[in-house]
Amino acid sequence: MKNYISIFAIALVLFSCNSEEKRITKITSPNEKVLVDFNVNSEGRPFYMVKFNNETIVDTSYLGFEFKNIPAFNKNFIIKNSNISTFNETWQMPWGEQSEVVNNYTELKIELQETTSPERFLHIIFKVYDDGIGFRYEFPEQARLKNDVFITEENTEFNLTEDYKTFWIPGDWDIYEHLYNTTSLSAIDALQFKNHKNLAQTYIPENAVNTPVTMVGKDGIHLSFHEAALVDYSGMTLKVDTENLNLISNLVGSENRDYKVKKTMPFNTPWRTIQISDNAPDLIASKLIVNLNEPNKLGDVSWFKPMKYTGVWWEMHLGKSSWDYGMTQDMNTWTDGGKSHGKHGATTENVKNFIDFSAKNNIGGVLVEGWNTGWEHWIGFEDREGVFDFVTPYPDYDIAEVVRYGKEKGVDIIMHHETSAATETYEKQQDTAYALMQKYGMHAVKSGYVGKILPKGEYHHGQYMVNQYNNAAIKAAKYQVAVNAHEPIKATGLRRTYPNIISREGLRGQEFNAWASDGGNPPEHLPIVAFTRMLSGPIDYTPGIFNIKFNEYKQDNQVNTTLAQQLALYVVIYSPVQMAADLVEHYEANPEPLQFIRDVGVNWNKSLILNGEVGDYVTIARQERETENWFVGGITDENSRTIDLDFSFLDSDTTYEAILYKDGEKAHWDDNPLDLKIEKIELNKESKLSIKLAEGGGFALSLKTK
Ligand code: NOJ
Ligand code: CA
Repeated sequence: MKNYISIFAIALVLFSCNSEEKRITKITSPNEKVLVDFNVNSEGRPFYMVKFNNETIVDTSYLGFEFKNIPAFNKNFIIKNSNISTFNETWQMPWGEQSEVVNNYTELKIELQETTSPERFLHIIFKVYDDGIGFRYEFPEQARLKNDVFITEENTEFNLTEDYKTFWIPGDWDIYEHLYNTTSLSAIDALQFKNHKNLAQTYIPENAVNTPVTMVGKDGIHLSFHEAALVDYSGMTLKVDTENLNLISNLVGSENRDYKVKKTMPFNTPWRTIQISDNAPDLIASKLIVNLNEPNKLGDVSWFKPMKYTGVWWEMHLGKSSWDYGMTQDMNTWTDGGKSHGKHGATTENVKNFIDFSAKNNIGGVLVEGWNTGWEHWIGFEDREGVFDFVTPYPDYDIAEVVRYGKEKGVDIIMHHETSAATETYEKQQDTAYALMQKYGMHAVKSGYVGKILPKGEYHHGQYMVNQYNNAAIKAAKYQVAVNAHEPIKATGLRRTYPNIISREGLRGQEFNAWASDGGNPPEHLPIVAFTRMLSGPIDYTPGIFNIKFNEYKQDNQVNTTLAQQLALYVVIYSPVQMAADLVEHYEANPEPLQFIRDVGVNWNKSLILNGEVGDYVTIARQERETENWFVGGITDENSRTIDLDFSFLDSDTTYEAILYKDGEKAHWDDNPLDLKIEKIELNKESKLSIKLAEGGGFALSLKTK
């Protein structure tokens, strides 16, 4: 893939106001629908308000910080200066859900100064877009605030004006793998999830939510709160004041320190964001989060190829094979004393089988989990430092041979690094581990951070781990390695700056359907995820399970969708790496639906969100970059519904040969998930289709030019 950056930027300073009278502190988005109004009150407390279509959606919301050892930043400020400018550029995504992104906003820069000692300065920058706002704090260089600053709390408020219908997960400092709840804002009760039985780690100290959190108003206002460019800072949860409908930032902390963030002056915080629209589809179309990140710092990343992949993976989650090889190993070195129990999944032979299957089916990669030593001492062990080894394969896995065989067949091997959250061990080995990958021409790694973070007392979403995740990706880029992290920090659009950050988990993925004791992901899960988690960035959900009930492996678990919905997910859920997650034998037994996985693209020119309602359904059309073929996917929750499609987005004068994969007449996610109907049809710009989706169902459609 060619990476080219061409930026057309116009930065125009319209006003620079030094004198009190001329000071402008109110700006609107380019289309004038979103308005931000900033001011300080009589005590000098800074606050802002947001209007959308002339309605106040964020009322007086105060801003400030508390620090260790020095006075807080929360009052006695005056506005020293304000600047307004506009910006408009179009930038290229090296890979993505679209080729070009328009980045057009109005900016307001406020310079505040304390009127009382120590008379420090604080800047606040607002960027106001047609699809929402972002603002961040800048701590400029100054004589009376120097060196290290220890932030004990950031107090950013989002004071809402309606008791919105809210789609939320608890503000867990350790994991995002919760089911979404749908309640009014005033009914949020995150603390009920304190003890979660399916999670290896969880910590929910407040009645707070994790972001993105999405809300729908009575008159159709849609809001989603998140953050952009989370770099060297703690993740932000939002504490919910259910009485006053106020959200207040609550940063993730650490048991090892009496502050939450340490910064060295001068510095900026991440952007605090609100995506705003008057309909659900526009939330998904919003590019606010990536736009608030800095441009590509890596240059050409064409060594990373968006791809579909299979893997030695689902079979472990089903219990058919294991990650570990055998019985014993010394803590630091694998010894031949270890005996195989005969269930090890990552064998040379098994991986070759996946390579053969992938090569035959237009799938570019094979993920191999459980290839390296250490898995005998993984879940349930406290002393996980010094255990996993990221260069030493088990005796039945010949890495050189597997890579050679893959090359011969045109299939890449995707590396796996389960760090077990033992950060020191992983950090120490990163250079050698990535160098090994480079030696074998492996350009993608799936990393994992299962378990409580070591060192003890740190949380997955605090500043320490934010730096771990970001530094690993930045280091990996030096070895031409792209990263797909599981148990990650949330996506905040950094893929724009570091396009080797390709995908991540950070939600309840498909794996929960294999083993969760609560019945897995219910049919409403993904119609919520599409409007919440997916607003933050690509998702490694691992779709494509054909053997929906897998009773031969597990009686009490299943995937809670129809087979047609599993196909739809290749289009609906965006990721530049998209797994065909099921076992080879399950695909080989079902060549007809497999055809859709063979055909579907992973890298797009355009993405159009055709319809949708948060938590109910969504339909997305995407045009593949290379072929210009279109693919459409639609999913519904537990309710059956009919979706009317209009193909006016197609090129005129082109007739497409289409294959429609839809739920059969009797399909139902639980009673009859495999009932699938496949139709070959011709479609053009004038065509219309009405498609019935079953309960927990969906449809997938491929359109190729004739
Ligand atoms: C959890 C990940 O989400 C899953 O995909 C992986 O197979 C296991 N950890 C093992 O690393
Ligand atoms: Ca996981």
